Amino acid sequence: MLATQTITEEILELKKDRRALLLAHHYQEAEIQDLADIVGDSLELARKARDFQGDVIAFCGVWFMAETAKVLNPDRIVIVPDKAASCSLVESCPIEPIREYRRRNPDHVIVSYINTSVEVKAESDILCTSRNAVQVVNSIPPDKTVLFLPDRNLGNYVKKQTGRQNMKIWQGTCIVHATFPVRRVLDAMAEHPQAIVVAHPECPETVLAQAEFIGSTSALIDYCVNSPAQEFIVMTESGVNYSLQKNAPSKKFYYVNNENCNCSECPYMRLNTLEKLRDALINLEPRVEISGDLLRRALVPIERMLAVR
Ligand code: 13P
Ligand code: SF4
Repeated sequence: MLATQTITEEILELKKDRRALLLAHHYQEAEIQDLADIVGDSLELARKARDFQGDVIAFCGVWFMAETAKVLNPDRIVIVPDKAASCSLVESCPIEPIREYRRRNPDHVIVSYINTSVEVKAESDILCTSRNAVQVVNSIPPDKTVLFLPDRNLGNYVKKQTGRQNMKIWQGTCIVHATFPVRRVLDAMAEHPQAIVVAHPECPETVLAQAEFIGSTSALIDYCVNSPAQEFIVMTESGVNYSLQKNAPSKKFYYVNNENCNCSECPYMRLNTLEKLRDALINLEPRVEISGDLLRRALVPIERMLAVR
C-alpha cells in the first residue's frame, strides 16, 4: 500500500488484484455501497452471485447471504467483512426442530425464507425471498401442506396474499422490522399528511395495514423513485435512504424508530466497515466454507427458487 493511498483506493486496487466482485445489500453503510459492483436486495444479490465468473466474492451483507453465494459458487472464494453479521431470523430457527418436523411430516412442503442457515436450507424444499415469496408459495400444488419459515410476519402476509389455508408459519421475527410500533407510524402519518407509507413485509400486520405498497428492499426503492408522490414514510432499515436520495433527490423520505432504539438500523448489517472489508480482501478471511454434502443439498431449494418467475 502507498502511504498516501486512502482506504477506498486500497479496496479498489485489492478488488482488481483479487478479481473480486463486491456485492452489497441496501442496508450497508453508504461508503460500502459506493464501492460495490452491485447493490441490491437478497434476491438480486443471489442472482448476481450465481452469474459471477471471477475468483472471489466479497459479500457485504449478512452471513446467510454469503452462505447462499457460496452454495452457488462452490469453487470460488466467498469472504465477508465480519463473520458475526448474523440475523435474528436465522437465530430463531435452529436446525434440530426442523429436522424433527421433517421426520414427522414427510409429505409437507418446507418453504424457507432465504434468511435461514445453510443447514435449514438443506432441509427445505424450496427457498424464497421477500420479493418472490408469494410466487413461490403459489408454485406449490394447492393440496400440499406448507411449512413457511422462519418469519412470522412475512408468512402471515403471504398467507393473506395467496389465500392459502394449509400453511403453517414458524414464529421467528426480525429484530428491526418486527419492532416498529404502529403508534409511531400513525404519529409519522399525522406529522407528514402528504406522505404515503411503504413497508417491508417483515413488519407487523398492524404496520402493513397502513402501507400503500409492500415489497422487498429494492421493490420499495423502485416504487418510491417511480411514484408521482413526493413524500414517503419508509418502513424498513434506513440504509435504503442512500439509494432513495441518490435516485430521487427532490423527494422526502421519513423513517420511524424501532421500539427499543433511536434508529431503524440492523445491528448485524452495520457490523461491516471499510476497514474490515479491506482486511478481508487482503487475508481472504473470514471465508465461508461449507462441506460438500451440505452444499449440494442446499443448492436444490435455491435453484428451485431461482427458477420461479
Ligand atoms: P430483502 O430480501 O428485501 O433484501 O430483505 C432482506 C432482509 O434481511 C430484510 O431485513
Ligand atoms: Fe435479519 Fe432483520 Fe437484519 Fe434483515 S434487518 S438481516 S431480517 S435482523
